[in-house]
Amino acid sequence: MNFHIVTGGCGFVGRNMVKRLFKTTEDVIIFVDDLSVGWDPEKWLDESLQRSEGEVSFYGVDSRLVFIQDDIRNVLRASIEKPVEYFSHLTGQELQKLDKFFHFAAIVGGRAMIDGDPIKVALDLAIDSEFFYWISRNKPENVLYPSSSAAYPIDLQTDTDAIALSETDINFSKMGQPDMTYGWTKLTGEFLAKIIAEHYGVKIVCIRPFSGYGEDQDLSYPVPAIAARAAKKEDPFEVWGSGKQGRDFVHIEDVLDCTLLAMEKITDGSAINIGQGRLTSFLEIIDLFTEFAGYKPTIKPLLDKPVGVHSRYCNMDYVKERLGWEPKISIREGMRRVYDAAVEKYVNKD
Ligand SMILES: NC(=O)c1ccc[n+]([C@@H]2O[C@H](COP(=O)([O-])OP(=O)(O)OC[C@H]3O[C@@H](n4cnc5c(N)ncnc54)[C@H](O)[C@@H]3O)[C@@H](O)[C@H]2O)c1
Repeated sequence: MNFHIVTGGCGFVGRNMVKRLFKTTEDVIIFVDDLSVGWDPEKWLDESLQRSEGEVSFYGVDSRLVFIQDDIRNVLRASIEKPVEYFSHLTGQELQKLDKFFHFAAIVGGRAMIDGDPIKVALDLAIDSEFFYWISRNKPENVLYPSSSAAYPIDLQTDTDAIALSETDINFSKMGQPDMTYGWTKLTGEFLAKIIAEHYGVKIVCIRPFSGYGEDQDLSYPVPAIAARAAKKEDPFEVWGSGKQGRDFVHIEDVLDCTLLAMEKITDGSAINIGQGRLTSFLEIIDLFTEFAGYKPTIKPLLDKPVGVHSRYCNMDYVKERLGWEPKISIREGMRRVYDAAVEKYVNKD
């Protein structure tokens, strides 16, 4: 049996990728998460898949889903010498080839964490350097390093100078400053990914998702939080800052599609944007959700809250040209899905 590893497999992107791989492959999927932020699999795996045994949990009738609850660094250290043997022994299955390695474990946490506890976020450097070291030794077939739009220079994202950010706006020989320790970490990760490809011959791609969102995202992120408040008809409606700041919102299903395609086609450690290529302000998002909810609230700006850069969106030309890929889920359709899920969760259940 071939197997895949998904670190941070109980986080927002990780759990969606675990479910996707389970559905679309026949392989064993080993996902690791310390549950510092991630959700226990019992909460997000289909009931028919649930089965748990001790420290290592197995899910699905065929036990193809294997969950290890631990700090990824412990698992990487324990398995670095002979990963196939290590995971075969741990799972009691005869594993053969480590196919894809998705590295989603990270301290992320949204704007409140990025601006509020930057040194905690910098621990990503420790997580990532152990990850890259392990990869250099074990060379999985394909590797994904999720960078971020935060890696882009912040001086290209102001209210007067905002541009659609292109892959070429990160140039390691001539650089602007990324967004806080989070952006520096991701930029460092991209630099290491290049080295992993060039010096160690590993096939790796970096993705820079802009603002990924989806129905099952944590409420510490703006899209699900705004949807929940609209579903409950909050009025006045609070927004961080003026609400005029904008982001490039992209649905998680589109992020997964683009990621898997990129892993097939890009192997030299280079990075691609994943977004809609469209700037949408938080006020527009509120407008949309309150339109779905059928009311028009008074907007209450919270000017003491952290807002990050003013305008962050991407140019998707390179991805379209290189991968022939474009996002399929429009803002309206994606936000409608999030809104419907919020109504189910926060209104109908009461
Ligand atoms: N969601 C997005 O739109 C987006 C955008 C840009 C980049 N990314 C990147 O994608 C990756 C996943 O993001 P996400 O939105 O799923 O974040 P998330 O916080 O939901 O998931 C991260 C997961 O990693 C786990 N984790 C943290 N430290 C760990 C450790 N030491 N050992 C094991 N597990 C650990 C957490 O418990 C959590 O489940 C991150 O690298 C993030 O920077 C995401």
